Amino acid sequence: MNYKKKTIRDVDLKGKKVLMRCDFNVPTNDEGVITDDSRIRKTLPTIQAVLDQGAAVILCSHKGRPKNGYEEKFSLKVVQARLQELLGVPVDLASDIIGPEAQEKAKALQPGQVLLLENVRFLKGETKNDMDIARAYADLAEVFVNDAFGSCHRAHSSTVGVASYLPAYSGLLVKKELDVMGKALSDPNRPLVLIMGGSKVSDKIGVIDHMLTLADDIIIGGGMSYTFTAAKGGKIGTSLCENESFEYCRELLKKAEEKGVRIHLPVDAVCGDHFAADAEPVVYADGEIPDNMMGMDIGPKTAEAYAEVIRNAGTVIWNGPMGVFEFPAFAEGTKAVAKAMAESEAVTIIGGGDSAAAVEQFGYADKMTHVSTGGGASLEFFAGEELPGVAALLDA
Ligand code: 3PG
Repeated sequence: MNYKKKTIRDVDLKGKKVLMRCDFNVPTNDEGVITDDSRIRKTLPTIQAVLDQGAAVILCSHKGRPKNGYEEKFSLKVVQARLQELLGVPVDLASDIIGPEAQEKAKALQPGQVLLLENVRFLKGETKNDMDIARAYADLAEVFVNDAFGSCHRAHSSTVGVASYLPAYSGLLVKKELDVMGKALSDPNRPLVLIMGGSKVSDKIGVIDHMLTLADDIIIGGGMSYTFTAAKGGKIGTSLCENESFEYCRELLKKAEEKGVRIHLPVDAVCGDHFAADAEPVVYADGEIPDNMMGMDIGPKTAEAYAEVIRNAGTVIWNGPMGVFEFPAFAEGTKAVAKAMAESEAVTIIGGGDSAAAVEQFGYADKMTHVSTGGGASLEFFAGEELPGVAALLDA
């Protein structure tokens, strides 16, 4: 995959209208309040740089997965309010996305002004890369900028289709994501360590298979590690288990040995007798979990061993927590990995999603080289897949 794309630094935007795809898919609570605005904050430098060049900016994004047109809980009104605070300039909202209101507002937009289109997924056809919709986006502007790394794995009208009708450049966030993560794959400081966690082996097969050709060490933790233990004949009690992945796990261990990739599996686990924050944490050796107990975190010996691998690494890529870090009694393993990464000299990269939430929660986010804004997108990136939203941009 070619990560070298033309950016907003390679084009004169003075006096132009710029359509910018962002990923404002921010989490909101039951009251509709944004609980984490980092995806908005991380796009600000691109918006500001485009405004500073003397352009007018039309922002667009999805939020959630609305299926039947407009739904209040998926509206970008909350994003409009937050953007105004952060940018310090008024941000107008076009509620019909590509309809007459949007067209008029886009036409009247002056350099330095900002317009936000409502959730692009309110349009049926957006997620099918409908080319009429793409054409209508393009008619609002003269240049397309994609700064939505978190959506670059989606071939939709606002990420791919629109680039057929407008010159398409990368924003600064997309550039940073591609530069840092691209180097980690193509020219990493070694040893290159991949840490995989989360609940399912089957969700991560693409990444593990690809990284098996690149990494020096692969650390396995979280719910998926119990499938490995069970595949080797160990006792895992009521822990998460995917029987259908046993063969894959055994094959992987064999292939890793042939390739000289070191696979690190837990040697102990912190368990509880029910899945709740108040479960009493008890440590068992790996493969010796009693029938009524469930593994909910890597144990202290495992955490120390993993921290040691991280301390000796040149590059660490982490995707997926080591346990149920939302429950304090089962958060220590995930915290230990985050701490070791924060203290390490290595290039440290957090694939988005839960691991990004974990480093935020433990206060280590600022200590990492890079916290990706992409969940699914970074998984596909590390699986070596071409991201259609990136492929659609002009090559540098
Ligand atoms: C994400 O949150 O990973 C991105 O915004 C993409 O969202 P999607 O999975 O609904 O396409």
